[in-house]
Amino acid sequence: MAYNVANTNQNNDAVSEIKNRLDIVDVVSEHLVLKKSGRNYWGCCPFHSEKTPSFSVNPDKGIFKCFGCGVGGDAISFLMKINNSTFFEVISDLANKFGIELPAFGQTSEKTELKNKIYEINLETANYFNKILLENPEGIHAKEYLFKRDIDREIIQKFNIGYSLKQPDDLINHLIDNLKVSYDLLDKAGLISARTSGNGYVDRFRNRIMIPIQDDKGNIIAFGARTLDNSQNPKYLNSPDTVVFNKSRSLFALHQAKDSIRSLDSVIIMEGYFDVITAHANGLTNVVATLGTALTEQHIKMLARYTDSRRIYLGFDADDAGVNATSRGAEIIKSVFSGLGDIKQFDENFVSTGDINNRSSCEIRVVATNTGKDPDEFIRNEGIEAYKKLVNNSPLLIDYQINRIINSKGEIQSPQDKANLTKQLIPILSEIKNAIIRDEYIRLVSERLEINEESLSIEVKKSLQKSIPSRADFKQIVTKNSEKHILAQKNLLGLYFINNENVSTLCINDYLKEVMFLEPTYELLRQEIIRLTEKFEKKHSGNDYAEELTEELLTKFADNEEVKQIIADVIFSLDDKKCLNDKLIRQYIIENITYIQRHVALREQDELRSEYYARKDDELSSLQLQYKVKELIQLSQVRLEKIHD
Ligand code: GTP
Ligand code: MN
Repeated sequence: MAYNVANTNQNNDAVSEIKNRLDIVDVVSEHLVLKKSGRNYWGCCPFHSEKTPSFSVNPDKGIFKCFGCGVGGDAISFLMKINNSTFFEVISDLANKFGIELPAFGQTSEKTELKNKIYEINLETANYFNKILLENPEGIHAKEYLFKRDIDREIIQKFNIGYSLKQPDDLINHLIDNLKVSYDLLDKAGLISARTSGNGYVDRFRNRIMIPIQDDKGNIIAFGARTLDNSQNPKYLNSPDTVVFNKSRSLFALHQAKDSIRSLDSVIIMEGYFDVITAHANGLTNVVATLGTALTEQHIKMLARYTDSRRIYLGFDADDAGVNATSRGAEIIKSVFSGLGDIKQFDENFVSTGDINNRSSCEIRVVATNTGKDPDEFIRNEGIEAYKKLVNNSPLLIDYQINRIINSKGEIQSPQDKANLTKQLIPILSEIKNAIIRDEYIRLVSERLEINEESLSIEVKKSLQKSIPSRADFKQIVTKNSEKHILAQKNLLGLYFINNENVSTLCINDYLKEVMFLEPTYELLRQEIIRLTEKFEKKHSGNDYAEELTEELLTKFADNEEVKQIIADVIFSLDDKKCLNDKLIRQYIIENITYIQRHVALREQDELRSEYYARKDDELSSLQLQYKVKELIQLSQVRLEKIHD
């Protein structure tokens, strides 16, 4: 790509226009899940591995910053880093996308040009197939087929559904005549296949109902094609992956559904094209489908841009495949959101724990028709109101899983059945973090199965203990947590320096008086700051203490390089917290304190473990000690479990 220095001025204008049109939140959201906190957004950093979000986006300033690994910059730096591309590559891609002239940057990127060409071809193709369906006499049986499935003209137009003729080169001829395209391009668009015998190409889709697949912006990126003739295989034929289409990153009907996902703050994911089409046809429009593949992290990240509460309904088929897809999908969703808090494990009215740590990062519900029907059949047989009712009453994932296991054996259960069911239930029960809720579930389950509550409880605890990590894993956990805990100490001290009107130092003091910092230098600072701020509060009414606090500290610790270094570190990492509101500040404090508590518990366990392993191979006489230490580890593990992850 040629870069001509003489034209830099024109380019600077273009670059600033590009920058103006970029929305940092949109740009970043394409690659990670962001959660709004006050004016900023937070997520797990894509540039280093982490489970707790320290990556922050400030939409006002148009910048991002990771408090974990330190990377930061604007939307363009983000794109350069994430795509591993140069400044010029990013700029020219964006210029193409926004239709901005970049005289000195040379040609538009070839890839973007190719993509645009394919969008154009696909749109022409969809319109052509649609016209055949509605107007060509050979499309009559296809039209009748759709009408039989209660799909009327309006919905045919909404999804631009069409029909491909039987002739092997009908589309090829149409496109060559009308768009003057090459075979090569049609091949790249995934619309043709090489003849199996002889030379040349044939249409990929023949004699099929054609369903255009769009990206979230509405570009047609592929087709899903259903056979009309049950003897024709496969039942569905999709476009292959192309430069514009990646199955694992595309969701059917997202373009049609996104507004309503946003306004309802929830999304229903189904399996099939027709499930979605029928739902939309009946006015249920926050519905999308995967494209015959498993749900992926990418799918979930895309959806998270539209639903803030991450309320996800899995509306898969009621058959075995659907049940499996539900469990696998749920695991994917959990892993995407795991760093942002727990998955919702109880309905508010079920049990109130009054625990501030219980905000959930996502909500997974399962809409099961339980009749062996898929949503399409269910809606057409029972009506949309019945389906909506099913959605509104749909159980949380955990309730669904527990119910499914308990009901799998029918009414009468032999002791063997019960033992078997219990075995399946234990991993689910021991996944419940909150002890109160866990005990509640244990009680309910033992009632339902008519088994002894105490025994079930013991089994669940055993399973909790089994999840004690191996020695090597544990060392790793401690090390990893140690860095986070230092950062947490820094974060907490930073709160005193942000001059945020929502934060009163006394409120921070309330929290920080209760924790001891493990690192002596941080602890020294913690005590000194609490002392100084209490002194200040008496004479300051506003929030201009930060300057004075800095001065006092730097004077007091003038000869303590270590403390001064920490003060600088703390002040340099402030930027993005100025605008957090009161609630989020509290949340932030609790999160950071949690790290510190976790670290304390982990260290304690580490010591106990060392003792245990040291004595492990001792004489019989030390058996008692071994037993005692093991017990202590388990106790400490249970305490650790209680600390919000
Ligand atoms: P209908 O019979 O038209 O109602 O289809 P369905 O959506 O109920 O079919 P099914 O539950 O069998 O499949 C669900 C989804 O899986 C479909 O919408 C397709 O995306 C995909 N799928 C099903 N069969 C095939 C196939 O043979 N090939 C491919 N590639 N995908 C398929
Ligand atoms: Mn179906």
